[in-house]
Amino acid sequence: MNRAASSIYRLDQNIRTIPDPELKNPKIRDRIQDLKEERDAIILAHNYQIDEVQDIADFVGDSLELSRTASVVNRKVIVFCGVDFMAETAAILSPEKTVLLPAAEACCPMAEMIMGEDVRRLREQFPEAAVVAYVNTTAEVKAESDICCTSANAVKIIRSMDENQILFVPDRNLGLYVARFTEKEVLPWEGYCLVHDRYTTEEVTEAKKRHPKAELLVHPECRPEVIDCADHVYSTSGIIQYACSGKGEEYIIGTEVGILHRLRRLCPEKRCYPLSPHAVCANMKKTTLEKVFLALERMTPRITVEESIAVRARAAIERMLAIKE
Ligand code: 13P
Ligand code: SF4
Repeated sequence: MNRAASSIYRLDQNIRTIPDPELKNPKIRDRIQDLKEERDAIILAHNYQIDEVQDIADFVGDSLELSRTASVVNRKVIVFCGVDFMAETAAILSPEKTVLLPAAEACCPMAEMIMGEDVRRLREQFPEAAVVAYVNTTAEVKAESDICCTSANAVKIIRSMDENQILFVPDRNLGLYVARFTEKEVLPWEGYCLVHDRYTTEEVTEAKKRHPKAELLVHPECRPEVIDCADHVYSTSGIIQYACSGKGEEYIIGTEVGILHRLRRLCPEKRCYPLSPHAVCANMKKTTLEKVFLALERMTPRITVEESIAVRARAAIERMLAIKE
């Protein structure tokens, strides 16, 4: 994590970014590696995780890549460095494995914006419609849905549905974005991401003034007016892929700042600027090396999903995974 970003976290989000004393001990990385072997574990991390956690992970990716990896991994233990719905998805896909979420309190506020009973009520109201659940949902909401999607495949998933009316939950902005690419009627729920929904067109104007040659790449959880200003709209890994393989040399990045670490690692020759340095997901920053170590040592906090819910949620996730990229 660079110094500028880390001071912003402390000032604005009151997040602990100064490493714990134990983290100063370079041996913690070795101890994690040893425990990983001992436990037959793999460490998966989302693109928004803090730098040190990304660096210790065996695989770093977006939600779709992480779901796919979790579904095929052949280790006994998955240590999920992300937020709860991601670990839950891994536990649903691999009930025979031990799934650990080192920061047990790391949740996605958007996923809490709709409950299973809301979906049941929607179904009564719109009996002809299909329910498409963004993967940022609880297991119970997935269980009530026909299929899941992520930001990387949402358009493809909507197009794959037979129904002409789609109840899209919970992200209003992603729902409005996918509606641009289909003739189907998309009815989005009123949920939103606290981080992406905060970007404004004024921030875009300012960033473009500072970096007039840079292309603007944003995440589809942004508001429609911000998306209208963007050169491209991608999932987190889509942004990384485009920035690293594209001809451009400079990019303004409209998603959570953790992604800048991966960009610096994968394409250090490109100049990538955050659309806003305040775009910090507090929950994604709760995982630390110390917590990864403790999770492996104690084999807790473990994420499990009750089988009666998991069986239906699994069907919705597997239907999504069966649709080829
Ligand atoms: P991605 O699937 O694009 O990584 O997004 C996950 C997320 O939580 C975005 O806020
Ligand atoms: Fe949830 Fe937004 Fe954080 Fe992603 S960035 S985990 S959608 S709160």
